[in-house]
Amino acid sequence: MSKDFDDFVERLQDQIFKETRAVYGDIAFQRWLNPLYAGRINNADGYGRVIGSCGDTMEIFLKFENGKVKNASFQTDGCGSSTVCGSFAAEQSLGKGPDKILNITGEGILERLGGLPEEDEHCAFLSADALQEALNDYMVKQQKKLKKRRLQKDY
Ligand code: FES
Repeated sequence: MSKDFDDFVERLQDQIFKETRAVYGDIAFQRWLNPLYAGRINNADGYGRVIGSCGDTMEIFLKFENGKVKNASFQTDGCGSSTVCGSFAAEQSLGKGPDKILNITGEGILERLGGLPEEDEHCAFLSADALQEALNDYMVKQQKKLKKRRLQKDY
């Protein structure tokens, strides 16, 4: 009985994996199985949080070193596609400075994935928006630091 049940569960999981891979493509499927860069970064230099029209939240954390992203991560309460897209948004920012991060878009993430079903495309845009928010947060903090340093110099 238990062996039959285990076999049934295994077959069901295989079927789900096969269908998921067929619909989402191999790149997204592999990243869904192994969502790299998931989690928070404490004391991130840049933090972005965006809630999509679907109600899901995407957060991106960036840690910079010498003006470039040294560490990046994402967190989401959204669907599998948002996990995949958040992972790629974080990955694409690695080693990049602000000017290059500005070029990371939802279209670029979709391109990297080889596309997603139309109803899931917004997950890529949500991830890119959260990344841009994180970059904006970093830039604002940099400006504040610069201002503070200038003020200290004047006194
Ligand atoms: Fe809302 Fe994917 S982010 S459905």
